Amino acid sequence: MTPVSLMVACWQQSNVAARGGTLDNFKDLYGAEAIFTRESRDIAALVKRGEQVATTVNEKAGFRCQSCHRMPGCNAITGPSFYGVGKRYAERLGSELRAKVWLFNKISEPDAFPGLNSAYFGSGIMFPMKDYYSPTDIEALVEYLMTLPAE
Ligand code: HEC
Repeated sequence: MTPVSLMVACWQQSNVAARGGTLDNFKDLYGAEAIFTRESRDIAALVKRGEQVATTVNEKAGFRCQSCHRMPGCNAITGPSFYGVGKRYAERLGSELRAKVWLFNKISEPDAFPGLNSAYFGSGIMFPMKDYYSPTDIEALVEYLMTLPAE
């Protein structure tokens, strides 16, 4: 990161209230609670789809989650590791459902939601995935992330 972008990141952190609120009091801007409380969701199929989405290059943008995140088969370090991420947020937020709702929003618009890794927040490095993936793909990514054990 250049000094200028570091300065911008710090400025955003200290002076601008995050659109999505705080981690303890975040806003479900993307209506994720309704998605994760629907009846008859096929979790196994979603997990499989999520793994596929995470490891496949997105044609519109030319990246995949693996380009920046540590996960099975890849040791990228630009973003936080995916290992144990679902469990970390479930513990912090008090339930798996809260963690899923938060992850869905975070992935949809990363720079609106400060998370456990505040050092990165507002960096603008991660793309707003709502522009690249369908809600079902993001739902699948979340279910996949929830299955990854801590290292
Ligand atoms: C160009 C690099 C890049 C790509 C590609 C990328 N991310 Fe990220 N991601 C980051 C960075 C940097 C952060 C930290 C930003 C923050 O927390 O505000 C982050 C944060 C996250 C977080 C929060 C993690 C935590 O521990 O708080 C999740 C979840 C996440 N990304 C999921 C994804 C998914 C799913 C994909 C693929 C659809 C993806 N990312 C693609 C760079 C990337």
